[in-house]
Amino acid sequence: MDILYLNPSFPPEMPMFARGLHQAGARVWAVGDGPREGLPAATQGALSGYLQVPRLLDEDDVERRILAWLGGRCPDRIECQWEPLVLLAARLRERLSLPGLGVHATVGFRDKPEMRARVAAAGLRVPRTLRARGADEARAAAAALGFPLILKPVQGAGSADTFRVDEPAALDPLLERLRHHAELSVEEFITGQELTYETLCIDGEPVYESISHYRPSALVARQNEWISPIIQTEKDLDAPHLAGGRALGRAVLRVLGVQTGFTHMEWFRTDAGEAIFGEIACRPPGANMVDLMNYTGDIDLYAAWGAAVTRGRAPALQRRPYSAAIIFKRAQGQGRIAGSSGLDAFLRAYGPHVARLDLLPVGAPRRDWTQTFLSDGNIVVRHVDQRVTTEMADAFASTVALYAR
Ligand SMILES: Nc1ncnc2c1ncn2[C@@H]1O[C@H](COP(=O)(O)OP(=O)(O)OP(=O)(O)O)[C@@H](O)[C@H]1O
Ligand SMILES: [Mg+2]
Repeated sequence: MDILYLNPSFPPEMPMFARGLHQAGARVWAVGDGPREGLPAATQGALSGYLQVPRLLDEDDVERRILAWLGGRCPDRIECQWEPLVLLAARLRERLSLPGLGVHATVGFRDKPEMRARVAAAGLRVPRTLRARGADEARAAAAALGFPLILKPVQGAGSADTFRVDEPAALDPLLERLRHHAELSVEEFITGQELTYETLCIDGEPVYESISHYRPSALVARQNEWISPIIQTEKDLDAPHLAGGRALGRAVLRVLGVQTGFTHMEWFRTDAGEAIFGEIACRPPGANMVDLMNYTGDIDLYAAWGAAVTRGRAPALQRRPYSAAIIFKRAQGQGRIAGSSGLDAFLRAYGPHVARLDLLPVGAPRRDWTQTFLSDGNIVVRHVDQRVTTEMADAFASTVALYAR
């Protein structure tokens, strides 16, 4: 089987997915914007061919170059796991009459108001959402919805330019700041816990499901540098407090018409226990969550995805012996990593339960925490007792610090 794979090098999980396709026996033809020699070794070994394009986000140009490269040949599938290119992948599938999500279905996973509209039309609970083109429409939407509300670009990712607005006076300065976005999504603000629901599907049926908890919510974590964000997998998907979100997730997959591949949904659980849809993407989650899910089940989702896409089947994946948590650190101070505190004591207390420790070494320049959730490093801990995982995650977040100068 020949698979055209868009963007094999970013985000950091992508080389592993290229490897997964290769392991499953596919020939992988990748398209990226860097030189082939610059790709991670794992990717290079998995590729049968590589096309370097100058501007990956210039859809028309990339489409032309791919068609010229193919020269009349046709791959069996086109795969893309990176949000900004999922629509281009859909366009190419339609152009070449290939299986997988087409443009209409992909819009349901990419355009937030349209996604919400389709989910709401099926009778599922979504935040009230209005689409606004320009400041006047945004003001009218805010007047209709009331405060607090959420303001964000229609095609957003990484919580970039997403804001909670608490009062009318705060609206105009934000609209000015967001002027470069053609369309905004104006939404009812939902108060509650924020969770996720991931699947790997084959022909529309989940063969793998997972639920994680963001602590605190992604928005709060993205806007406060001092916080050490935690993402923790739920060990028991049958727990009563997850039933509403899991049912919501399954229903959303049916409504939006998923096929074969990963999905990543975010949802809210209100204090009253109601599950409310947030958003969904037709790709795996970022923030190292694929690794987190692998640590939760002692499974290899990279290989499983490769098998699902290439052969239409996957190994048994639904064991969850652990609850795993990943905790991200932002160093205090600017410049280069100079040291840490609290790590030795943490490892003395919890060392056997640390699945991975990946902090920037002393001397490394700090990463831009506003651009990458991976920040200045992370740890993964896991335990068969979810309460212990929670305790370890909280301890790492509050007692371990990185310093830069
Ligand atoms: N209606 C809402 N009510 C409450 N919080 C919200 C709402 N919409 C978004 N948020 C918060 O803002 C965050 C970012 O919003 P959203 O997920 O829609 O944007 P995004 O840019 O796709 O983010 P990401 O790529 O990080 O998932 C959410 O994870 C959530 O914490
Ligand atoms: Mg989101």
